[in-house]
This record gives sequence, C-alpha cells and structure tokens, in this order.
Amino acid sequence: MAVQRTFSIIKPDATERNLTGAVNAVIEQAGLRIVGQRRIQMTEGQAQRFYAVHSERPFFGELVEFMTSGPVVVQVLEGENAVAKYREVMGATNPADAADGTIRKLYAKSIGENSVHGSDSDENAALEIAQFFSEADIVG
Ligand code: RTP
Ligand code: MG
Repeated sequence: MAVQRTFSIIKPDATERNLTGAVNAVIEQAGLRIVGQRRIQMTEGQAQRFYAVHSERPFFGELVEFMTSGPVVVQVLEGENAVAKYREVMGATNPADAADGTIRKLYAKSIGENSVHGSDSDENAALEIAQFFSEADIVG
C-alpha cells in the first residue's frame, strides 16, 4: 500500500476536555504522522459545507451546532494506507460499538459527540484537506 494522506478533526467534546495531546498520542502510536495541524473555531458555513452529505439527515442541525460549539483541531495525517488505518484507529461512530483501544472507545461521549472525524475515502480526503489546508501548510 502506498503512502496516503487523510483528513482528521479533533471535535469540540475532545478539545473541551483538553484531550488534543491524548488523541494525538493514539494517532502517532498507530504509525500515522501528523503533517498538518491547526486549531480553529469552525463557522456555521464551514460546518454545513463540511457535512453537506448529511444535510437531509435528522441529526444535521445538531451536528452543525456541535461542530461550532467550541474549538476543533483540523489535521492532515500521513502514512501507509492512511484513510483505512485512521478509520480503524478512530473506531465505530457509536462509541458503544467501538473496539478496545480506539479513540472513540477511549474518549467519545456519545454517537454525536464522538471526539474525532476521519475521511471515509481517498477522494473525500483530498476534498476535505483542500477545504482547510494549503499545500504550504502541510509538511511531511
Ligand atoms: P465522521 O464523518 O465524523 O468521521 O463520522 P463517521 O464517518 O463515523 O459517521 P457519519 O455517518 O459520517 O456521521 C457523521 C457524524 O455525525 C454525527 N452523528 N450523529 N445522532 C446521531 O444519530 C448521529 N449519527 C451521526 C456523529 O458526530 C458522526 O461522527
Ligand atoms: Mg463520515
């Protein structure tokens, strides 16, 4: 498998509990490299655009409200098979279903407030990275 990039967000429930470093430790221990990172306050427009694929879902309003409720850390992760690897490291969307040792099992509060986002495909990774980073801010 080739070296890939994926896009990650440390969500407001995690930044609020001062867990940025703890989440990053799990990421790095899994062999992924944090090659871009910035702490931001997402605007409503940014969150709506980012989760546009879920705009018809009943939880969309709640999701946008949550993602703008506090700071998030946007990240670019690099490594072998990074998209699938990070999905594995994050664990299932619902922490009750997440495997031991995953970020969501360790830290997520609920299916909504689940600590991290990770891209679900190579194509989406490229689009999501481009929404928040310029190439000059990614240093591998
Ligand atoms: P993400 O996109 O954040 O990495 O999460 P995911 O792929 O595991 O899950 P997805 O189906 O894409 O859902 C996106 C985010 O929406 C929130 N959600 N809330 N209340 C609910 O039933 C519900 N379902 C999903 C979660 O924050 C989920 O991560
Ligand atoms: Mg998703």
